[in-house]
Parts: sequence; C-alpha cells; structure tokens
Amino acid sequence: MNFLDYYELSQEPFSNAPVSRFYYSSGQHAQALMRLMHAVSQMKGLAVLVGDIGAGKTTLARRLLDNLPEADYEAALLVIVHSGITAQWLLRRIALQLGVDNPAEEKLALLSQLYQRLVRIYESGKKAVVLIDEAQMLDTREIMEEFRGLLNLEVPERKLLSFVFFGLPEIEENLKLDLPLAQRVALRYRLEPLTEEATEAYIRHRLRLAGAPRVPFTPAAIAAVHRSSQGTPRLINTLCDNALFEGFVARASELDEKLIERVALTLGLAPGNGVSAGASASGSAPRDGAERIDLDEIDRYLESLSK
Ligand SMILES: Nc1ncnc2c1ncn2[C@@H]1O[C@H](COP(=O)(O)OP(=O)(O)OP(=O)(O)O)[C@@H](O)[C@H]1O
Ligand SMILES: [Mg+2]
Repeated sequence: MNFLDYYELSQEPFSNAPVSRFYYSSGQHAQALMRLMHAVSQMKGLAVLVGDIGAGKTTLARRLLDNLPEADYEAALLVIVHSGITAQWLLRRIALQLGVDNPAEEKLALLSQLYQRLVRIYESGKKAVVLIDEAQMLDTREIMEEFRGLLNLEVPERKLLSFVFFGLPEIEENLKLDLPLAQRVALRYRLEPLTEEATEAYIRHRLRLAGAPRVPFTPAAIAAVHRSSQGTPRLINTLCDNALFEGFVARASELDEKLIERVALTLGLAPGNGVSAGASASGSAPRDGAERIDLDEIDRYLESLSK
C-alpha cells in the first residue's frame, strides 16, 4: 500500500508539475486572466503580470495561452532561461515562434522578415501575441529598447504585435531601463498570495480532482498550511504533499495542525524564516551576467521543450 491507496486517491493531488487539469481558478487568478485576455484581445501592446516566487505566474501564462483560440491568435510562449541573453537572440526567437522561416542573422533583414510575417498574420484576421515567462531576466537597456521597437510596429488602426510579460516584481525596475517602454505598459496586475479561504478551496479542489472521497486535513491543519505557506501555491503543494506522506507513514487518517507544523519545520517553512514570505530577494534565480552563456545551448534546450 502507498499513500495514494491509503487516502483513496487516484493520483497525486499536490504535485508541483504544471498539470493544467489541476488548475484552480482562484478569485485572483480569474481576475488576472480576465484582464490579460482583455489586454491581448484589444491588442493593447504590453501587459505585465508580476507575482512572488511560486505565486502561479507560469501556470497563468499557460492558461492564457490555452485560452487564446487558434482561429483568432498566433500566440507563442517564450521562456527566458538565462539572464544575459542578447536582443538579437530574442528577436530571432520571437520571429521563429511567430512562424518566420529561416530567420536572417542580420538584424535589419530579420526585422523586415518579422514585419512581413506580422502583416500576413494581421491580414489573415489574427492577432499576434507573445507571452514571455521569467521576464525579470530581461535586464538590459538594449533588450528593452528592442521591445519598444517591436511595439511600434503598427498598421494604421492597430499594433501588429502584443506582449505579456510574466515574472517577479523586479520586472518593473528593468522596464525603467527604457522609460518610453515603461510608459507603454497598458496593463499591470500583481498576483497576490491566496487568502486563507482560497487556500482551503485550493486544497479541496486538488483533492477532489485527485479522486479523494474526503478531506483528510482538519480545519486547523488547513489554517496551519496557510500560515506556513503564506498562501503561495507551490508551498501549499509541498506542505500538503509531505503531510499526506507523513500521515501515511504514521497511519493517521486525519492530518492535524501538529503534523503540518512538523512538516513545515522540516521543510524550513516555519513562519518568519523568510522562505515562505514572498521571498523574491532571497530566492530569485542567480544573476550572473559575467558568466559566459552558450546561446546555442539555450536554443537546443528550448527546441527540446517544444518537441
Ligand atoms: N491557479 C492554480 N491552480 C492550480 N495550481 C496552481 C495554480 N497556481 C499555481 N499552482 C501550483 O503552484 C505551482 C507553482 O506555480 P507556478 O510555477 O505557476 O508559479 P510561478 O509564479 O511561475 O513560480 P516562479 O516564480 O518560481 O516562476 C505550480 O506547479 C502549480 O502546481
Ligand atoms: Mg514560473
């Protein structure tokens, strides 16, 4: 017997894998999605969604992508996997994602290809949208200026391309590297942590989808999960996942507050230690601009993802 059998679950309810089936439309997520949909459907140019580590930004980016009908949008999701990428690399990725065949090496030629492709998308009645995840890693003036240039590509009635940036709040600082770009942000939304009620609803939702016939967590345990996670979805998952396993080991049919607190302690999530507290400063990806970056390697990595 394993913990799934013990709690009568058909699959893991709190996996941190981005499984769209487990999507929970919290008030926050629903509001954010609605606004982002509005921004892209109106081709507003640039929209920015920020949130602390593990708040659900990537989940939302994928959800937005899934919500854009292929008949109406030429949409792509680009994940920035390293800070220090060049504007040239970025342009090529965007061109490739939007369907430019054989993007040119030379910048002007590449821009011309991109422009022609965008006009074709426009003429086919579609909207071109590029979602960029981990956008806080775009941190040079050169790159910000490039975005401004792309946002200036227009036909008389409207823009040809819109962007949505997803990332940590420091995106705002990077945008200021090019003030005219910062001024072009048409929508900003900050994904806040889940409230205690939303945390409970999230836990129940995931358990239900995993086939649980009942909720093994006591109300006090759920309150403790909220305290230790501060409402951050990734931490809620980790806490609940560990609690289910520890509960199984102890053959506890009910998971109580004490168990959650013990699990939180072993995970280093005791309230106040800074790990759970929206710790964007301590937990953000290392920035190492000085390190040499193999852009081809990033290309290969991205290609392997899209396979
Ligand atoms: N709305 C949601 N519904 C269901 N699960 C969610 C939701 N939001 C977040 N999660 C869960 O939390 C985990 C972390 O979310 P996600 O990866 O989207 O956060 P993030 O803000 O992109 O984190 P990071 O700052 O590390 O990039 C996801 O793997 C998912 O399991
Ligand atoms: Mg993410």
